[in-house]
Amino acid sequence: MNTNEYYINYLTEQSVGVEAMLKRRMSEITSDVPPQIAEAMEYSLMAGGKRLRPIMLAEAARSCGLKNITDTEIYASAIEMIHTSSLIHDDLPAMDNDDLRRGKPTSHKVFGEAMAILAGDALLNHANEIMARHVSENTEPRFAKAAYAITKATGISGMIGGQTIDILAEKAGLDIASEELLVKMYSMKTCALLEGAVAAGAYIAGADESVVNKWRKYALYIGLAFQIVDDILDVVGNESVLGKPIGSDSENNKPTFVTLMGLDGAREYAEKYTDMAKSIACELGNAEFFLWLADYLCKRDR
Ligand code: IPE
Ligand code: IPE
Ligand code: MG
Ligand code: MG
Ligand code: MG
Repeated sequence: MNTNEYYINYLTEQSVGVEAMLKRRMSEITSDVPPQIAEAMEYSLMAGGKRLRPIMLAEAARSCGLKNITDTEIYASAIEMIHTSSLIHDDLPAMDNDDLRRGKPTSHKVFGEAMAILAGDALLNHANEIMARHVSENTEPRFAKAAYAITKATGISGMIGGQTIDILAEKAGLDIASEELLVKMYSMKTCALLEGAVAAGAYIAGADESVVNKWRKYALYIGLAFQIVDDILDVVGNESVLGKPIGSDSENNKPTFVTLMGLDGAREYAEKYTDMAKSIACELGNAEFFLWLADYLCKRDR
């Protein structure tokens, strides 16, 4: 088995572990909640997906020397719930108006718009609820730091702020796009949650701020490459492999790296940011997986 095959198997194994972990979280939801909301949460959460953020969280913790990986479970579950909530809302008619996600009809197509809004809210809040409970029962600062890194990454200076810029940019039209605006938008809407994931993992392992900052920088660069590749796949991808519609960005007149600099220019930038991520991974130490991951994500087709 070569290195590439080894890590692809490893990713598959890890994502199977994440699925089982998320199933456990859903089974902990008590029977006194309206079953319809639990059903809508579970539908999107368990629909598949690459499970990149929880895997990166646990892997960053491992790289930073954490022995008891179960310490990361609540935080890894929470970040995938938050990411899924962002996808449910991102697909709503008022936002990107998409009908397919993770190979299945989107939440609002199955449950209606009102329930999809609530399912997104529910996953976001449930993530915060399970982290707050864990922090209240485990008072070591490393857990509070992880919870704060994740909630801040989600908020107005992170993912939600970035989605705001995305919607405003779409309304303003393609002309307003500049490299500077797109980098700002992507670092918030996409990179922030990846940064939150690796920062939380590093904190749980007891890493100090200077180490955490290096992890954040790695996630910023792979996040920029990740979103640029997402833009490229929106044009040249295969819907059945990608599990979401092709052409959504152009239908929404959304400024992206592809509209700004064309497919070849976008590809060059994705490679540039991938190289920048790899050079940080080399400085991180014990981070061979992350070195491989940067290239893997740059070449992905889903
Ligand atoms: C999609 O994220 C949204 C973006 C930030 C581009 P992913 O590509 O990680 O989606 P899943 O989790 O695999 O479905
Ligand atoms: C998504 O950007 C960013 C989120 C925070 C959800 P996109 O709108 O390009 O993501 P996809 O292509 O729908 O997955
Ligand atoms: Mg969007
Ligand atoms: Mg979208
Ligand atoms: Mg996209």
